[in-house]
Amino acid sequence: MTARVYLKNIVKRFGKVVAVDHVNLEVREKEFLVLLGPSGCGKTTTLRIIAGLEFPDEGRVYIDDKDVTDLEPKDRDVAMVFQNYALYPHLTVRDNIAFPLIIRRKQLGLTREEIYKKVLEVAKLLRIEELLDRKPGQLSGGQQQRVALARALIRRPKVWLMDEPLSNLDALLRLQMRAELKRLQREVGITTIYVTHDQAEALSMADRIAVMNKGRIVQVGTPEDIYLRPQHVFVATFIGTPPMNIIRCITDLRNNKLYLHCPGIEREIPPEVAKHLREDMELLLGMRPEFVEVHKEPGPDTIKAKILVVEPQGSELILNLNISPEDREETIVKVKTKATRKYSPGETVYLELDWTKISLFDAKTGKALA
Ligand SMILES: Nc1ncnc2c1ncn2[C@@H]1O[C@H](COP(=O)(O)OP(=O)(O)OP(=O)(O)O)[C@@H](O)[C@H]1O
Ligand SMILES: [Mg+2]
Repeated sequence: MTARVYLKNIVKRFGKVVAVDHVNLEVREKEFLVLLGPSGCGKTTTLRIIAGLEFPDEGRVYIDDKDVTDLEPKDRDVAMVFQNYALYPHLTVRDNIAFPLIIRRKQLGLTREEIYKKVLEVAKLLRIEELLDRKPGQLSGGQQQRVALARALIRRPKVWLMDEPLSNLDALLRLQMRAELKRLQREVGITTIYVTHDQAEALSMADRIAVMNKGRIVQVGTPEDIYLRPQHVFVATFIGTPPMNIIRCITDLRNNKLYLHCPGIEREIPPEVAKHLREDMELLLGMRPEFVEVHKEPGPDTIKAKILVVEPQGSELILNLNISPEDREETIVKVKTKATRKYSPGETVYLELDWTKISLFDAKTGKALA
């Protein structure tokens, strides 16, 4: 039943707005693919194009190897959870969830009893079994959202399309539902395309993440790829809490060696990286807040920093530090560290970077350097 989805060179314009800009994407069979990106980047539009609710101006949509671009939504065998629920107000929760099966009852060979048994199962999974006799108008936003999700999960189509299906749940319920949803998807093995602008959700649920910005796909990769090896400065600054620190630097040639020259940092660039670079090139140094160690005393390879703000986070702390020399404009970086000792604003500390986990980007294009 399960399928591969392939988007080939999709373009969608709304007047002057290019909502989807030459998107190429292959979603593998049984994969959980997350489309991640900021508001307005084209996630919903992309999903609606796959569902057949929107027609692309250019490009083709394939499900398995079949070109479905001209097929009606009902002929594509996909189930979609909409960002704005779209429940039937006059039907009970039970009948809202049952609806996709009721209309296909003959074709599926199911009795009403069998359908309602399935409704109960999926309602239990989403913890809404007490609400089955109510109408959508009698539910909270988060409850309505789970009904909408149940209505998609009750089906076993080729593809599940989910548009921010957990966005209205409280933090705890959201964490629980993430795990339930992920487990169910694993069990039934239905190819799933899941839209969110929540990077934590993407990192925890996805087999692969496609990061979108301004209608384009910037990077596709496993959560680990996206987190540790961002291919573009946009990805680096969109992922992580807090996101990657970005420091403006310049290259400097001395004694035939190329140096990275940044506020508070002076370091030789390894020859294998340097061979792709020139003198006086503007670079961006990317450093994740969690890959920096904080010391009280200077070491051979440490960066002097002054604490500006301390943000407690339970077992961890986020330090806001200035790494520029005193007479220069501030360069602020955030560092995440264990809350095992007290830090105070005004204190001087010494930072040790994990240079194996540093990213370098071309300041002009934003692209990562090899
Ligand atoms: N029917 C429409 N008519 C005109 N413009 C539209 C239409 N639908 C979407 N757009 C525009 O296309 C762009 C992409 O919209 P889309 O809804 O796909 O974004 P999104 O990534 O889902 O954002 P969000 O995270 O806020 O839901 C936006 O600039 C939006 O204003
Ligand atoms: Mg959207």
